[in-house]
Amino acid sequence: MRSLLKCDLVSIDDLTLPEIERIFVLADDFAVALERGEKLKAADGLIMATLFYEPSTRTRLSFESAMHRLGGSVISSADMHASSAAKGESLADTVRVVGSYADLIVVRHPRDGAARVAAEYAPCPVFNAGDGSREHPSQTLCDLYILRKRKGQLKGLTVAICGDLKFGRTVHSLIYALARFGANIVTVPQAGMEVPDYVLERIAIERNYRFSTVSMGELSSLAGDGRLDALYLTPKAPHQMALFTSDLPLSDLPSGKAPATLDAFYVTRLQRERLPDRNTSPESYVHFDARALKGSRSQGAVVMHPLPRTDELAYELDNDPRAAYFEQAAAGVPVRMALIGWLLEQAARGEQRHPLAPAAPRFRPQPALRCANSNCVTRHESAYLAPRFTLARSSGRSRLMLRCDFCERELSAEFVGHVRTRRFYRFDEHLRGYVRQWIDEKSLAVFESVKQAEENGYEPYRRGPQREIMNATEIARALDELAAQVVTDLPDAGNLVIAGIISHGALIALRLRELIEARTAVRPPCLTLDVYNTADPVRLIDGGDEIDVTGRTVILVDDVMHTGWTVQRAMAILWQRGRPAAVKLAVLIDRGHRAIPIRPNYVGKNIPTAQSERVQVRLDPDPGDSQHKSADRVVIYSILESIKEPAAAP
Ligand code: NCD
Repeated sequence: MRSLLKCDLVSIDDLTLPEIERIFVLADDFAVALERGEKLKAADGLIMATLFYEPSTRTRLSFESAMHRLGGSVISSADMHASSAAKGESLADTVRVVGSYADLIVVRHPRDGAARVAAEYAPCPVFNAGDGSREHPSQTLCDLYILRKRKGQLKGLTVAICGDLKFGRTVHSLIYALARFGANIVTVPQAGMEVPDYVLERIAIERNYRFSTVSMGELSSLAGDGRLDALYLTPKAPHQMALFTSDLPLSDLPSGKAPATLDAFYVTRLQRERLPDRNTSPESYVHFDARALKGSRSQGAVVMHPLPRTDELAYELDNDPRAAYFEQAAAGVPVRMALIGWLLEQAARGEQRHPLAPAAPRFRPQPALRCANSNCVTRHESAYLAPRFTLARSSGRSRLMLRCDFCERELSAEFVGHVRTRRFYRFDEHLRGYVRQWIDEKSLAVFESVKQAEENGYEPYRRGPQREIMNATEIARALDELAAQVVTDLPDAGNLVIAGIISHGALIALRLRELIEARTAVRPPCLTLDVYNTADPVRLIDGGDEIDVTGRTVILVDDVMHTGWTVQRAMAILWQRGRPAAVKLAVLIDRGHRAIPIRPNYVGKNIPTAQSERVQVRLDPDPGDSQHKSADRVVIYSILESIKEPAAAP
């Protein structure tokens, strides 16, 4: 049996843009081969298993057709409800077993995050053919493929996405992808079915996109001549929102400004099966007909739909050359052939792909937290699947924000604790660094209330007195010495890149750059690295295009060197962007004990500390602007309380 590499497609974001482009090239080739009636053998000997726990016509049949067309074969359970799932077999057991019968599994499942579970437990690659309301990446490949064919490119297009944007999983994958390709998105949601926050957050935070909201009146003008009423945007739909996305910073786009033209309408059906009460109908739902294409701004728009349609898309459009939905469905075969072909190419190359970005540390807080989403796979496969989370951004919030690692929904906690010290704290931003450390130590506890913390045997935290170990003058001197060392060691300042680890490392990096510039009259580019932002961890501080670090000397800057873990992650991020000639590590304070053997090249001050001590660097974020005496200082304090060992180690 030939073995494929374990390249799972759970989210459209699992593919890089060049990989998507490659899949399109393969799809073009396969479309031609199909046209010519060629007999292909690329997947000869491969077996694909289709596990569909939900109804499907296009996705399943086109995947199966694709595998047959490539000379492979398909095994399937005609109805998962007639399989062992009906006897209560877990998803994990099913994919584990089926993975030993097949080389590739395509799975569709009603639970949010189920594809991630399948991918984690299956020994072979898993393609997500739709998991609950979360994502449907292979449909997005078909959508993008046809949209680009019709419009020549994706960048800069304006796509209006209409209908049930809350439960429509095709829409979510499409939004992620269009945002990455630099298209503009205008959402036209059914009232109450807006794009969920977790989708907005992903593109807002990870891709730094800003959204603009337009009113009903403004929306109507999008199509030109007030024709958008053809979408039945009745006044009963009070909350209409648009979001404009672009590769470029969007600060130039005035809020609510309508795009010049609409290039595509992507219409979706009401996902009735996901409504709490399937029998209730909204008072009005988008009904898209030929009138919507009459406006001056929408005449050149193509009409797309993932199908199946219900009442939202008029049959009168079917013969209109702008209707693209049957092409989308037909593209299912060559595009899914291309996806399999891409997997074969990975296997032929023989090396595992680099992960797109290092995964954010995942953790299982104690006591076990339940995901707030009742359709999350963790709520339905709980016998073996413990809820797992990553940290979400919570700046400015007084609660710790967590994100379910399976369904992505956020939840928050007001109190955090440490499982060994059995202390708890009301969360605020200052604790964030500790929380990260406790995650690394697998010691994070989270609580909703004081009562819950106390019931779990936790006591409130008290800390020892603080002692200042560096004042503003000493910090300034230390930074000056760091800059001097860098300039002496690395006289070619033109080849330097300075990379600061967010947040304090970035502040120090900026100051170091000033000092290096003062000495060399060269202003090296300065990056920030956010080791907790998985999708977009690198930013160029001066704006502008991403910088290639290949062949350059990178000065990696952080405030306190403790275990070395953060530095290691930052290095991994850097090395994914290119191959620097050298990476030199500069830290303000080296605490002198670390779990990972990393030695800084430039150290502002060595401060040997005990594990029970904490070193905190406080820096004025804008010293140049401040009229006051600089507030910079470094403090150290101990955790005074005796550490009670927990009864059972985590
Ligand atoms: C979509 C799905 O299943 O999410 N269908 C498809 O795969 N083409 C869209 C839908 O069912 O509305």
